[in-house]
Amino acid sequence: MTRRVLIAGNWKMNMLRADGEALATALASGVAPGSAADLLVCPPATLIASVAAKLSGSAVSVGGQDCHMNESGAHTGDIAAAMIKDLGAGYVIVGHSERRADHAESDETVKSKASAALAAALIPIICVGETEGERDAGKAESVVGSQLCGSIPESATEDTIVIAYEPVWAIGTGRTPTVDDIAAMHSHMRQVAGSVLGGSDNLRLLYGGSVKPGNAMEILALRDVDGALVGGASLKAEDFLGIAAAAE
Ligand code: PGA
Repeated sequence: MTRRVLIAGNWKMNMLRADGEALATALASGVAPGSAADLLVCPPATLIASVAAKLSGSAVSVGGQDCHMNESGAHTGDIAAAMIKDLGAGYVIVGHSERRADHAESDETVKSKASAALAAALIPIICVGETEGERDAGKAESVVGSQLCGSIPESATEDTIVIAYEPVWAIGTGRTPTVDDIAAMHSHMRQVAGSVLGGSDNLRLLYGGSVKPGNAMEILALRDVDGALVGGASLKAEDFLGIAAAAE
């Protein structure tokens, strides 16, 4: 098995230029040389270029938080995948639950965005996850399974996409599923994604939702967890590097 751990930071709608560049500089100088994990930060689109410049030559990559499904055209305020790529990004998050909720993004939309990302030679990080009500109703696995089937584009392979499991109720709340629940969900996801993609031994499955330096090690130790998508704790270099160190 050759899956490299990916620790991805999702800065969300945070950081003006000075703070974002300072954080990028701190990450570039703080990252362990020859780190066992791939590190990635996804700043707001306004900062992708300047953060990429600060991280150039370091082991930390840059990504976007969303892209439009079309290549170009009359979509005021939107950003195409190729534009994100053009700024130095290698990845883009699609289908984050905040986008699914705030912008009513359906699985179909997420699939089109992931497809646009692939066409622009970006690696889409496709997010899925159940709400608290769905988990309480015993539907977590079926909800996540159907999000996966609806959101993975036909052009994807197990080597060209990343999937992040982010239970909605664990995002920004300080609550996480038990490690047994994470393990069970990731094993289910590997099976479902494997049947969609024709294989999933190489597919990287991230866990996201209240990952901190204190809980990263036990989560990252799980067999089917290949990294983390980190929100709040990615805004402080020390915390983000602490999570990366837990992957060693
Ligand atoms: P959190 O966010 O780490 O702040 O819970 C995770 C995410 O939404 O990607």
